[in-house]
Amino acid sequence: MNQDEINEIRNKLNIVDVISSYGIPLTKKGRNYFALCPFHDDHSPSLSVSEEKQIYKCFVCGESGNVFNFVMNYEKISFKEALAKLATTIGINLGITEKKDNKYDKYYELMDIANKFYQNNLLSGEGKDARKYLENRKLDKNTIQEFEIGLSLNKMNILTNLLVNQGYSMEELNLIDLSNENRDSFINRIIFPLHNKDGKVIGFSGRIYNRDDLNKYQNTKETPLFKKRENLFNYHRAKAAIRNDKKVIVMEGFMAVIRAYTVGIKNCVATMGTALSHEQADFIKKLSNNIYLCYDGDAAGRKATLSSGEVFSKMNLNVFVISLSDNLDPDDYILKYGEENFRKKIDDAITFNEYKIKVLKQKYNFDNIDDKTNYINQVLLEINNEKDIIKQEIMLKTLANDTNVWYNTLEKKLLGLKDKEINKEKSESVVIKKDKKNGFLKAMESLIYYSLNYPKVITMIDNSNVYIPNTDIRLLLNEIIAYYNRYGEINEADFYTYLSNLEKNDLMKELNKVLQNDYPVMENDDQINENLLAIKKYNIALEIRKLEKEIKEEVDFERQIKLMEEIRTLKTKEGKSW
Ligand code: CTP
Ligand code: MN
Repeated sequence: MNQDEINEIRNKLNIVDVISSYGIPLTKKGRNYFALCPFHDDHSPSLSVSEEKQIYKCFVCGESGNVFNFVMNYEKISFKEALAKLATTIGINLGITEKKDNKYDKYYELMDIANKFYQNNLLSGEGKDARKYLENRKLDKNTIQEFEIGLSLNKMNILTNLLVNQGYSMEELNLIDLSNENRDSFINRIIFPLHNKDGKVIGFSGRIYNRDDLNKYQNTKETPLFKKRENLFNYHRAKAAIRNDKKVIVMEGFMAVIRAYTVGIKNCVATMGTALSHEQADFIKKLSNNIYLCYDGDAAGRKATLSSGEVFSKMNLNVFVISLSDNLDPDDYILKYGEENFRKKIDDAITFNEYKIKVLKQKYNFDNIDDKTNYINQVLLEINNEKDIIKQEIMLKTLANDTNVWYNTLEKKLLGLKDKEINKEKSESVVIKKDKKNGFLKAMESLIYYSLNYPKVITMIDNSNVYIPNTDIRLLLNEIIAYYNRYGEINEADFYTYLSNLEKNDLMKELNKVLQNDYPVMENDDQINENLLAIKKYNIALEIRKLEKEIKEEVDFERQIKLMEEIRTLKTKEGKSW
């Protein structure tokens, strides 16, 4: 299906109706509609929808796009799926375009059959020991059913044969790791299915229960369905609870999540033993701003707390830490101390900054002056990171108490840190001032907005032969120019379709970022010409800076003179006389 046909479908749709059809109430204010943004934990309506431009934009989380992107993001489906779905609503059946997704459907179907097979095994005569094991671990029938726990038998090829007899090919089974080298992948293990964000089974984790094996858990390897970085255990079940409770508890292992669930704490997800990936952090962020880390109480758990906490903090989320005593993991803790004590632990969670200070405290010996000084300096850095000045003061007071160092001395040092930061920023910007640099970036970004909304700007850019030094912006402008030359017209909404269809996700992100800013109405061409000129001057300034550096390093006198000449020419070009 070509871009023109897709645009035609988009023109028949109204983004306001489509968003409303998901039960999201839209209120009209001025020219636009507003709603609570479904893509982040929103408390005041920050999603704006333009009926005129047929696009949506969230001013807080930055999600934006056209009607197709909304459906893609909301339903977590591909561009083609969203297109087909929306086409159906206006009576167009795209049918065959879904080839790729059909292939995936087959894999999901296979996963479901395997999942049911494992579950049946557990209930069969051969599942007696496994059932005993689960009973000993205090996992009751309801929990087994809810988490679809199963069993792979102590037989080499039983699942593989079953599926081949049903007409599936060996290649398919190996590809999604139900089989490995034509044999069953999971043998003699208790099976926990792993689901994607929408609740489809994409893999399994198998635990040993009746023998010794170096591998306590065996997981499905990376397959077209199972991508470890992009999934979290229990995400699909926990979504609603997380939104309700306005917080998410992140754990290491899935036994911990299952245990918490059995006592009614349903807002937990697990990373399954590996370090938190940025993709996982992004998914979590979509559900809540309040992150509670509840890792195992051992050394590995403490290490993971520090690294995950850092990832979430950088994303400007509120991070808290739940610390468990005696090296226990949440599963053991709940079994040993009970639900009430665990809930109390959640209530007593400390902020990530406080946690880091606690960790530092254990590292240093206060009887040693150097150690103590080191400690104080490290803690001051953490206090400097804290945004809330009230909290800063409280932390400073605690530090004064803990170390017996005068409060005013600590405060003086803290202020010194702040000054240093400001000076550092200043020194970084000697040649090209920071705000000036930002100004150029804004100038470049604005070209994208104006070319999408005033096509004549595209011609102006094309004719100016300006070089855009920022790669993403340059690529975006190239795409805009290419689109315009091909279709003879352009608007934001159709351009979104174009990028989504080509799966240019990085450019899509950049476009979202750029369109996040507000741009004034274009009064006349001067505005654009000024921007183009500013970018040209910026390029020259960059070039001059490069040559100046070269001169300093150049030992050959003749060559130095030549470089100076070049700089002089550039400076005249830049419009400076000297
Ligand atoms: N894990 C794994 N492979 C292993 C060990 C652990 O993939 N050989 C992953 C599992 O996802 C597990 C998580 O790391 O849930 C945490 O490991 P661990 O704390 O050792 O397991 P528990 O969840 O406590 O499981 P159990 O109580 O059954 O020992
Ligand atoms: Mn455990």
